[in-house]
Amino acid sequence: MKVFVYNTTQEASEKAYDVFENAYNNGANVFGLATGSTPEGLYSEIIKSDIDLSNCISINLDEYYGLDKNHPQSYNYYMYDNLFKHKPFKKSYVPNGMNKDAEDEVRKYNQIIDEHPIDFQLLGIGVNGHIGFNEPGTPFELRTHLVELTPSTVEVNSRFFDSIDEVPNQAYSMGIADIMAAKEVLLMAFGEAKAEAIKALIEGEVSEDVPVTCLKNHTNVTVILDQGSASLLSK
Ligand code: GLP
Repeated sequence: MKVFVYNTTQEASEKAYDVFENAYNNGANVFGLATGSTPEGLYSEIIKSDIDLSNCISINLDEYYGLDKNHPQSYNYYMYDNLFKHKPFKKSYVPNGMNKDAEDEVRKYNQIIDEHPIDFQLLGIGVNGHIGFNEPGTPFELRTHLVELTPSTVEVNSRFFDSIDEVPNQAYSMGIADIMAAKEVLLMAFGEAKAEAIKALIEGEVSEDVPVTCLKNHTNVTVILDQGSASLLSK
């Protein structure tokens, strides 16, 4: 695992762009993408660059169950607004939160991943160590599934909604098995709220209690941190 710590999120985002561009230059064509505030700086760098993604495929990690793609807090909308409208891919996949038939949505999404094996997977991290929406306790062998969000995740993510009652308590998420199958992983984490989860990733044991620790078993992972998320590391 390669770990980089930066003083500012801007420097960290520029480094993340270098890692992304390097993967692209080495032939990566299918990009697993993430939402949240953390990758916004990377997406700005991608938009500013002259990289051409029009022959590439993107597959997003997750989507809230019950949110339409035009809902401002949906991850479909986030991706359109933060990246796709500026830098289109050949084809972009995000789970359909409006598909109430979970079995159908899961089958379709797993088929998309099977048809486009992920070369490069971008990850943020939840305060409780979740990746995508794989909450603590999720078996590592699971693929895409409908998740019951923990009360703490609903609360943390309520900052983007008008009230906590509007936050969906379920989501579709790629599974840990899908994330681990990616050839390369880039994880970004900013802020002290992520420090415990980052300490578990870098200094702890592999445990389903802290989903991100699965990455200790992946052979090609880059971790980009700021001082806050790195603040509990012993060296
Ligand atoms: C959500 C997403 C995660 C993301 C996390 C952190 O829970 N499902 O994929 O990593 O938020 O978001 P932020 O970067 O805003 O802290």
